[in-house]
Amino acid sequence: MKFSVKSGTPEQQRSACVIAGVFEKRRLSDAAQRLDEASGGLLGEVVRRGDMDGRPGQVLLLPAVAGIAAQRVLLVGCGPERELADSRYRKIVRKAALTLNETGAMEAASYLAELPVTGRHLHWKVRQVVETTAQALYRFEQFKSKPENASRPLRRMTLMVTDRQALAEGKRALAEGEAIAAGQRLARDLGNTPANICTPAWLARQAASLAKSQPSITHKVLEEKEMGKMGMGALLSVARGSRQPAKLIILEYKGAKRGDRPVVLVGKGVTFDSGGISIKPSAAMDEMKYDMCGAASVLGVFRALSELRLPLNVVGLIPATENLPGGNASKPGDIVTSLSGQTIEILNTDAEGRLILCDALTYAERYRPEVIIDIATLTGACVIALGHQASAVLGNHPPLVHDLIRAGNESGDRAWELPLWEEYQEQLKSNFADMANVGGRPAGTITAACFLARFTEKQRWAHLDIAGTAWRSGEKKSATGRPVALLTQYLLDRTSR
Ligand code: BES
Ligand code: MN
Ligand code: ZN
Repeated sequence: MKFSVKSGTPEQQRSACVIAGVFEKRRLSDAAQRLDEASGGLLGEVVRRGDMDGRPGQVLLLPAVAGIAAQRVLLVGCGPERELADSRYRKIVRKAALTLNETGAMEAASYLAELPVTGRHLHWKVRQVVETTAQALYRFEQFKSKPENASRPLRRMTLMVTDRQALAEGKRALAEGEAIAAGQRLARDLGNTPANICTPAWLARQAASLAKSQPSITHKVLEEKEMGKMGMGALLSVARGSRQPAKLIILEYKGAKRGDRPVVLVGKGVTFDSGGISIKPSAAMDEMKYDMCGAASVLGVFRALSELRLPLNVVGLIPATENLPGGNASKPGDIVTSLSGQTIEILNTDAEGRLILCDALTYAERYRPEVIIDIATLTGACVIALGHQASAVLGNHPPLVHDLIRAGNESGDRAWELPLWEEYQEQLKSNFADMANVGGRPAGTITAACFLARFTEKQRWAHLDIAGTAWRSGEKKSATGRPVALLTQYLLDRTSR
């Protein structure tokens, strides 16, 4: 998809399709009004006849309207004008994109960025149109022997703004939207790639090719031997049951002065989570290929970041491994020593995410980070607590948690805080080691974060549990690219203060 920004009147756009909104009940938006006048009242008539009353998501395609330069007019219902807020706006934009994709129009001029959205400016709307449209048209067909795409897919969209002054603002927003969309696409592609291909070594190669294509990014990979020498006993204990060697992938983005403390992003990269000896039930186990979506989001953010040339230093750490029940696998009751020196009794080998993250979090300290954020499909309990709408955020530094929630609200990729109170730490007591790796069924997302907190005490740190948001199940099974938008927004916000 190619996007551009332009100013001009709707009736004069020589486009395959011009898109305009209609409010409930039967109220034309500004652009629709102009089209109505140019067409001698046709739109008003269509609306009066009841073919389009403006309900949200309703669409009506009018071919070859006399008096209008475009080949088609697509009217999109927007609901009551005063109720148009974030999520309905995205729904309208998504609907327009999907409808167009099924028509013959491969290109369109959209006036949807002109719509009044409660509390939102042009910048936000342009970004949302770009991100939402790109997301809606995303397909993962690398492994289909014949593509199932639309025969004449939507390829280009021009976002129309009211005047020349709005052009500059629109163009800046477009660049941000495109960078985030590219990051989301990368994260989705990596997530959707099956685990027989997406192994730790393959992930490391993807990081290498990203670094190769972006001069501002460098990369390095630590092998098992080096990790062993350093003492990453927790991380390595997870890899024991697999034939695939674990990798610690390190990405560095340098956009600021050398001495500027970096933001460190740590992404869980379990390329397949069978549960290990504490093996999972087989229903939907295929979805555990998505257990590297934290890692994928880190790579996606690096993609967006380098495209935007943000003046920041950012480090990405990706502990990558499979979790399989091989003959050498960790057993319930095994005790391992983490890089921090703390010992861990592995009571459940399926709580492997925290074991690889804790060593990566300790390793992160050597970068003297400004803040550390880890991103992980960490607990099934998170899906129970927050569903698929919000990621969970927990941390030891309230301003950081606040900034992440704010970035989620702004980007539409939202997170909600769960408490990280001292009282929950009790659940991690072990009779034989410094801690157990599980805290029982109650508050599973919180006790997982409590475990990680023991490795970040000296740092400003937050944890995003994306178990419910990183992919969709069922008929529309696919990685979502979350939380690339949230994290990129957080980094954008850091540059403007
Ligand atoms: N990757 C899973 C978490 C997960 C499960 C995410 C289902 C999305 C859907 C993680 O490694 C895991 O298995 N967690 C266990 C922890 C438990 C053993 C304390 C879980 O959530 O069941
Ligand atoms: Mn697991
Ligand atoms: Zn897992």
